[in-house]
Amino acid sequence: MSQPVITDYLFDEAAYNTHDGGYIPLEAPTTSPQPLAIPAIATPDRVEGQDVYYTITAQTGEVQLLPGAKTKTWGYNAPLLGQTFVYHDGETVHLHLVNHLPEVTTFHWHGLDIPGPIEDGGCHAPVYPGEARDVTFTIHQPASTDWLHAHPCPSTAEQVWHGLAAMAIVQDDHESRLPLPRNYGVDDIPLILQDRRFHEDNQWDYRADYDPDGVQGPTAMINGTINPYFDVTTQKVRLRILNGSNRREWRLHFSGDLPFTQIAGDNSLLPEPVTFTHLMITCAERQEIVVDFGQYHPGDRVTLYSDDVPIVQFRIRDFAPDHSTIPAHLFDVPEYHVDPDLPVKNVVLSGMDEEVMIDGKKFDMQRIDYEMPMGKCQIWDITSTNDMVGGMIHPYHMHGTAFQVISRNGHAPYPNETGLKDTVSINPHEHVRIKVLFNVPGVFMYHCHIIEHEDGGMMAQIKVVDPAHPDVQYHLMDHHTLMQAFAKERGVAMKDLWLGGMESYKKMGMHM
Ligand code: C2O
Ligand code: CU
Ligand code: CU
Repeated sequence: MSQPVITDYLFDEAAYNTHDGGYIPLEAPTTSPQPLAIPAIATPDRVEGQDVYYTITAQTGEVQLLPGAKTKTWGYNAPLLGQTFVYHDGETVHLHLVNHLPEVTTFHWHGLDIPGPIEDGGCHAPVYPGEARDVTFTIHQPASTDWLHAHPCPSTAEQVWHGLAAMAIVQDDHESRLPLPRNYGVDDIPLILQDRRFHEDNQWDYRADYDPDGVQGPTAMINGTINPYFDVTTQKVRLRILNGSNRREWRLHFSGDLPFTQIAGDNSLLPEPVTFTHLMITCAERQEIVVDFGQYHPGDRVTLYSDDVPIVQFRIRDFAPDHSTIPAHLFDVPEYHVDPDLPVKNVVLSGMDEEVMIDGKKFDMQRIDYEMPMGKCQIWDITSTNDMVGGMIHPYHMHGTAFQVISRNGHAPYPNETGLKDTVSINPHEHVRIKVLFNVPGVFMYHCHIIEHEDGGMMAQIKVVDPAHPDVQYHLMDHHTLMQAFAKERGVAMKDLWLGGMESYKKMGMHM
């Protein structure tokens, strides 16, 4: 095997979050190592042929994250983060979504190609405390690692910070036949990367930590575990890495510069595997890698770092030799033919802090910023104009679709973004071109996935029109209604309501 090994992070170094004045470096853990939590797989309430029924409850909880007081947390069918939802291509999923939280939330399926705005679960599909909503959708997409998170604008960031983020895995026949690790919890491991700051009595305090460019904390939290270790009992381990952080970019590498192979990113396998020693993952992206521990012996330890801070320790146990090889070809990327009648659509991300915008505007839930026909492919050109102090990298995300990255400033995209994606990072002044094609109709959001930028208005929405049903009307919520709900639930007057994203509109003298 003479595959080249990529040894750098590919992105514009000058724009790394480390150069931001507000950057909060991770600190090495000081508490004793804990076994890495593996979220349980959600079991359906019932299965009838291809119809699968689940109840998903957003709930409050308490978790012993650090010695001393338990931390108050939120989660899905779990006190923190959530169960892992495993869906299969072709099945119809029926969800009973229950809100046991003290405030309004939504259930957004990041990465699922399902209609919007209700099934998609963005801000137009609120579930109020004590209430429930039922949604049904059919899974029709390739195997991938996706996720569920709250999306009640402008308080998405705070709810994710409380813990509302869970993994969803789509399986299909093609991926199931490939010789890849697939034993969940044993050699197929979710790795949800987040960071938090613990305040008095081990509690989180989102408002105290608020930064309009994204909230960070110095403590790495992986699958809701502080200072985790994982017992390696197979030579090869597949890691489904999800950057579930509000703001942090993670720059991953192993001790000894152990190479690893990326097999998937966001919405599909990669056409060909790519081998790295260093890998950057920005907010909301997923990267699946296979790590071969064949050169190690029982008792050895291999550490995964972000920059120079250890985040997960792999403790090598006994394992049987594994001579399988990762196939040189993993996935046929579907051919998207650009519709000659659709011009290139430009998207400009601008500003930092409170000034963030898309195409010179802040998000308005009632405004449709763009319309596009379903089933037709169009090139979108995404750029970022901001270059203050080196600028920053904005992870650009679209709901309801899986796109193909075709170029970065006219050059080939990075070798690990050759599959289907829903989030792509934009370096300052870079033009990233993507092929966009929606297979489902509805109103969908597109935005920066630094979640505070999204709440702060760096977000817009598209209406995707099914030519067979061009007149469908969608009921769109508005910020004011959601904010009134938050005020009522928190027992404060509207003028005393604080939601992170509101600041960004206020400071710009704008109304929500
Ligand atoms: Cu992770 Cu608007 O989405
Ligand atoms: Cu999304
Ligand atoms: Cu951004």
